[in-house]
Amino acid sequence: MSEGFKDPGARHGRHLVVLSGAGISAESGLRTFRAEDGLWEEHRLEDIATPQAFRRDPQQVRRARPNAAHKALAELEQHGFRVSVITQNIDDLHERAGSREVVHLHGEILKARSSVDYGLRYPLPRGGIRLGDLCDKGSQLRPDVVWFGEAVPLYAVAEEIAAEADLLLIVGTSLKVMPASNLYAAAPLDAPIVLVDPNADELAEPGVLPLAESAGQAVPRLVRHWLYQGHLGLPDTL
Ligand code: APR
Repeated sequence: MSEGFKDPGARHGRHLVVLSGAGISAESGLRTFRAEDGLWEEHRLEDIATPQAFRRDPQQVRRARPNAAHKALAELEQHGFRVSVITQNIDDLHERAGSREVVHLHGEILKARSSVDYGLRYPLPRGGIRLGDLCDKGSQLRPDVVWFGEAVPLYAVAEEIAAEADLLLIVGTSLKVMPASNLYAAAPLDAPIVLVDPNADELAEPGVLPLAESAGQAVPRLVRHWLYQGHLGLPDTL
């Protein structure tokens, strides 16, 4: 058991809450934002954060496939664990892997939504959104993506979910963007927090267990351990 880290094993907790970021999709071929070859290095923000720019990206997401990390989380759910995924990603790889409880804090690139009613969502038209494509309330459709500077409507939902965690697993996020980067504070004080990221040692706050590995390596190994022991206890050696 790693020194100083809380272990819910004694409680036999089985509710895993996951906070994922672009890094969990990196092994599916979708680039992250802030690595040396990240998207923000290549595009100006205003180029990306416009409806027109998303015409290119949906194809990339549709071609990508869930990787071992996405699949391992879905497998845990199939064996009697509750797995709540709170993701900053706008791809649908968690869903395509089989996860059934997914909250997209920053929206979903394969969806369009009403510009007056956040709850009105539609599959993204194959050819992208055109001026004149209207929601049921007659307003212009827009990509279902939260632009920089906009509110994150689902954050309160995410906090409520995190507050019920037996273990919080943070995977593949640089934790640079609020409010998502603050979510770990909503977890119960006695719930361990594990951070999976090649840069975990630099990113992990005190009390967070760093796993400096890729998502594709660390997440399946953790899931195998949890399936073996039947609850979310931390292995003695990670
Ligand atoms: N496995 C796990 N983590 C990885 C992997 C991998 N294979 N590859 C890279 N990473 C890590 C990087 O080390 C980095 O810490 O993933 C993290 C990605 O960080 P960012 O590129 O900042 O992406 P993210 O944290 O998801 O960004 C948050 O910022 O730009 C906005 O809206 C955008 O949702 C995004 C938000």
